Amino acid sequence: MKQVVITAYGDPHVLKTIEKEEPQPQAGEVKIQVKAAGINFADILARQGLYPDGPKPPCVVGYEVAGVIEALGPGVDSGLQGLRVLALTRFGGYASSVCVPANNVFEIPAAIDFFQAAALPVNYLTAYQLLVVMGGLKKDESVLIHNAGGGVGLAALDIARHIGARTFGTSSPGKHAFLKKRGLDHAIDYRSYDFLKEVNRLTEGRGCELVIDPLGGSHWKKSYKALRATGRLGMFGVSTLTQSGLSRPLRFIKLALQMPWYHPVKLMNGNKGVFGVNLGHLWHEPEKVQDWTREALKGVNEGWVRPHVDKVFPFEQAGEAQAYIENRKNIGKVVLVPEA
Ligand SMILES: NC(=O)c1ccc[n+]([C@@H]2O[C@H](COP(=O)([O-])OP(=O)(O)OC[C@H]3O[C@@H](n4cnc5c(N)ncnc54)[C@H](OP(=O)(O)O)[C@@H]3O)[C@@H](O)[C@H]2O)c1
Repeated sequence: MKQVVITAYGDPHVLKTIEKEEPQPQAGEVKIQVKAAGINFADILARQGLYPDGPKPPCVVGYEVAGVIEALGPGVDSGLQGLRVLALTRFGGYASSVCVPANNVFEIPAAIDFFQAAALPVNYLTAYQLLVVMGGLKKDESVLIHNAGGGVGLAALDIARHIGARTFGTSSPGKHAFLKKRGLDHAIDYRSYDFLKEVNRLTEGRGCELVIDPLGGSHWKKSYKALRATGRLGMFGVSTLTQSGLSRPLRFIKLALQMPWYHPVKLMNGNKGVFGVNLGHLWHEPEKVQDWTREALKGVNEGWVRPHVDKVFPFEQAGEAQAYIENRKNIGKVVLVPEA
């Protein structure tokens, strides 16, 4: 089989495609012949040595795949053979074959292809946890989605629209036309304008009931200020880590120094809440994640979950694919395919 390996921490050139022996499914597992593997921002942080959860190089990352079940381990229902499925993978997704527990695979709805299916698990499950499970977003509430044009951002927009919330989204300006077409109510160019001032202007100084923020550090402080009374801030990433010209340890120190501290009395008197989301730390709660996956797949069938794939790259161009995201060019998802 083919795998894309992070050979050492570094720039996109450290990604190399290698040939490896085919894996064999163990008891209770299925082997998926991968048709598409999703790229996530965490993979880029892992390559740069900025992802504490990431394996040490040489390693294969990748949290999600879509493909066809081509072999079954002992004890697995024979009806699964040949099914089109999507699955979360605990790393190892950048490969032409992966083995995963049989109860972690889900049949792909007929309405979407393998590329869209590979764009679904991480983005929609994260957004679902942020907006529905922990953010409790309701009809007619307002939500501010940072990086609304990214993978999680577009998923959050789909879910917020389904709920009937008023949507605000930050992104680079080149993505605004697309976002408006997808149904975003208010697009904010956060790279040239102060998003907090914009939110205050658009909400007559009230703010939003929910803000989801993957940037981290001092950005979380500012997002907190964009909360309306009864508002909730969902923190789920530290994209700003990639920006600085500092060495790796200094970046973490800078990030830690910029982190907000939320005093209970301040939260109480502000009628505000804060919470964190990390899908990669939920492997011990498979039933929850499986329930959310079923909801997302129901959303595909009902038409409100619309995974958007921007670009497809072959494994051999995994470096270019990650650079495309790092250069903020992506609108929605970028996926890898084993065959050029
Ligand atoms: N906690 C979790 O479970 C979880 C799960 C999935 C993702 N995440 C986090 O959510 C964020 C988005 O992930 P994603 O996979 O959906 O990626 P993505 O949003 O598609 O990532 C790329 C986009 O992020 C924006 N961005 C902001 N700061 C950036 C920077 N310093 N360098 C490059 N791009 C930057 C850019 O869009 P604009 O500038 O145009 O807005 C870029 O196009 C990441 O922080 C990721 O780690 C967390």
